[in-house]
Amino acid sequence: MNFEKIFSQPPEAEANAPGRVNLLGEHTDYNDGFVLPTAIPQRTTVQLGFSADGQHHFYSEDLDEQVNILESNKTPSGFASYIFGCIELLKKEGYAIPPLSLYVKSTVPIGVGLSSSAALEVATLKGLRELLHLPINDVEIAQLGQQAEIQYAGLNCGIMDQMASSLADTDSMLFLDTRTLERSVIPFPEGAEILVIDSGVHHELAAGSGYNQRRAECEEAARRLGVKALRDITNPQAAEPLPELLRRRARHVITEDNRVLEAAQGVSAKRFGELMNASHTSQRDDYEVSVPAVDTLVAMLQKTSGVFGARLTGGGFGGACVALVATGQGRGIATKVLEQFNQAGYTGRILVPPKDL
Ligand code: GLA
Repeated sequence: MNFEKIFSQPPEAEANAPGRVNLLGEHTDYNDGFVLPTAIPQRTTVQLGFSADGQHHFYSEDLDEQVNILESNKTPSGFASYIFGCIELLKKEGYAIPPLSLYVKSTVPIGVGLSSSAALEVATLKGLRELLHLPINDVEIAQLGQQAEIQYAGLNCGIMDQMASSLADTDSMLFLDTRTLERSVIPFPEGAEILVIDSGVHHELAAGSGYNQRRAECEEAARRLGVKALRDITNPQAAEPLPELLRRRARHVITEDNRVLEAAQGVSAKRFGELMNASHTSQRDDYEVSVPAVDTLVAMLQKTSGVFGARLTGGGFGGACVALVATGQGRGIATKVLEQFNQAGYTGRILVPPKDL
């Protein structure tokens, strides 16, 4: 399938954006904290043209699904909601958006914590920028993408995913202060590379999930501690007076911010790995966003020689693990660990390095 076959005309603009994997700094972005993601090789591509019949037409190659939207229509569901959200937000910014035909194809895996939705939002917005010559920069694109996710897909997310998809590359890490959006590019620890393995247990973060609940708990903890956001606290002891559940949530965020700040100073692969392992324990026990399949996979990785550290990555409640491993050993380690993991009854798969891109 391609744009011309679906819409009987060639595309007039095209843009793409990558998924991301977060190395450290999980659930810190909506607490105004620090994150350390990198882009992954898998990308989402959006091709665009003008539609002549007064309706928007969005086609997803991966789902083989077309959604047609009259200007007056209410928000669609599924992949179309993200595209629709981007268009509506641009209209609210005062830009005139004519009826469009959009063709989407993607190699970013869905529901595993690698930000397939941010890749779709950022690719859509960059495509619209190109087609309509909009004067918006990459940071504004990330901010609009985040709003599309919050207002049109119901996930009360932070800005990490869209910033990473809009600005990060696969060769380095993006150290980002999510309050000020100050950022710097940091090399991977020397002698190390990234491995991402899907646990096979997938998540649905939007509306009704524990994600929005975690965010509300953090906001409550910050309110009780008298700070604007948990980012304003650096000593985990400060969380002690909170009720038990809020204390654990706050402790995760405070210690996780500290781990990112330490890693961003440029630590050895060994130390970086220790910080990742501590991050996993904190996500599992204090933040309670892991699941047994992910804990099993992380434990297997952590025990394997050549692995510096491993942890759950992304929003959680299932999804993928990221590991820092000795350069050149990624695929070998993944094959060995997956054999063990899948023998235990799971259906894991290697996502990075990708097999066939
Ligand atoms: C999801 C959200 C991000 C971030 C992560 C957890 O990916 O979209 O904003 O909160 O979860 O770190």
